[in-house]
Amino acid sequence: MRTYLVTGGAGFIGSNYIHYMFEKYGDEIRIINVDVLTYAGNPENLKEVEGRDNYTFVKADICDTEAISRIFAENDIDRVVHFAAESHVDRSIKDPGVFVKTNVLGTANMLNCARAAWEKPDGTYPEGKRFLHVSTDEVYGSLPEGDGYFYETTPYAPHSPYSASKAGSDMLVRAYMDTYKFPANITNCSNNYGPYQFPEKLIPLMINNALSGKKLPVYGDGKNVRDWLYVRDHAKAIDMVQEKGELFETYNVGGHNEKQNIEIVQLIIDTLLEILPDSDPRKANVSRDLITYVEDRKGHDRRYAIAPDKIRAAVGWEPETCFKDGIRLTIEWYLAHEDWMKNVTSGDYQKYYDSMYKV
Ligand code: NAD
Ligand code: DAU
Repeated sequence: MRTYLVTGGAGFIGSNYIHYMFEKYGDEIRIINVDVLTYAGNPENLKEVEGRDNYTFVKADICDTEAISRIFAENDIDRVVHFAAESHVDRSIKDPGVFVKTNVLGTANMLNCARAAWEKPDGTYPEGKRFLHVSTDEVYGSLPEGDGYFYETTPYAPHSPYSASKAGSDMLVRAYMDTYKFPANITNCSNNYGPYQFPEKLIPLMINNALSGKKLPVYGDGKNVRDWLYVRDHAKAIDMVQEKGELFETYNVGGHNEKQNIEIVQLIIDTLLEILPDSDPRKANVSRDLITYVEDRKGHDRRYAIAPDKIRAAVGWEPETCFKDGIRLTIEWYLAHEDWMKNVTSGDYQKYYDSMYKV
């Protein structure tokens, strides 16, 4: 039975990946999820799998060498899928230090522990050991409006402390591949959306605010472009790269789905008005009048757009969920999981919101 060590599996993409993997492989695989449970980590995301015999949760920090080495010593880990990171750009602008620590030093520690466990005395690695580093398109910087794509060969040009820290972590993975022939891959994915995304990110924040009649804060002129991918398609890409990808290669992941932020916000409002029955009291709150243009994000990248040609040609990956269906599924999920939203927005969320937004 193949054993996966997933880091950051209690977060948005990690938890969707774990669900995807158990749905696909059932009892054929074992997953160990290591997560320190920051504000973004939520065990509730995994309550359907926590009773499985082939799932183990370990609460630990990826920077903790002893804890991570122990997991490798006690388990014959075949695959590492490394999601754990600080992931929100706005938080990185306020407090970059923790991004450097988790994203750069935490990745270095994961690489060192995996290498110590896997490398043979002759410097080679046993067949089947693979480390996948989950990264982002933001490392490539910003594209001009309506022109060009990010390819795997595009030079790195990160602008935010978040993307700079992810770029640093990617460089470390590249260096370990080049120097030690460490068996790894990197995936650089575009913006994900779907269930279990924390409402600091655009889509769940707008859904949550609209339902409670709060202002919808759109940064700058609202015309920045992001390339949106349904999270399950990202999970599938990661699995396909580990199954069929060439070791040492980087793959860009995206579905050619560029949208301006303002289009997304308007679509959320229109979809909520369409889905909610008149009898639902929340419907009265939802209106385009809530849209409020606010001060722009510092260093705000104008446009991201991924060229997914390589992953398509190499492993046959294609996204399955078009945006029209994906956004509807996502909104329906949030409508059906009001308690999940209440739980994650109780506690420190309001403090965070007040410190970030004046509306
Ligand atoms: P998230 O913020 O929802 O989840 C991050 C998880 O990592 C949380 O469960 C958190 O508790 C855990 N974590 C944080 N610091 C940790 C530490 N020191 N030790 C152990 N666990 C720790 O993030 P996400 O949106 O799910 O992103 C996951 C990964 O995918 C990140 O590496 C991110 O850079 C990358 N990515 C995200 C997107 C996106 O659109 N969200 C797109 C491309 C790539
Ligand atoms: O591109 C991949 C990246 O996508 C990931 O690496 C990051 O982890 C993830 O957070 C995401 O980064 P973005 O900065 O693109 O996502 P965010 O949801 O924060 O913002 C999307 C766009 O919406 C961006 O142009 C800023 C804008 N925005 C965001 C928020 C939270 C607003 O206009 N208002 C808001 O309140």
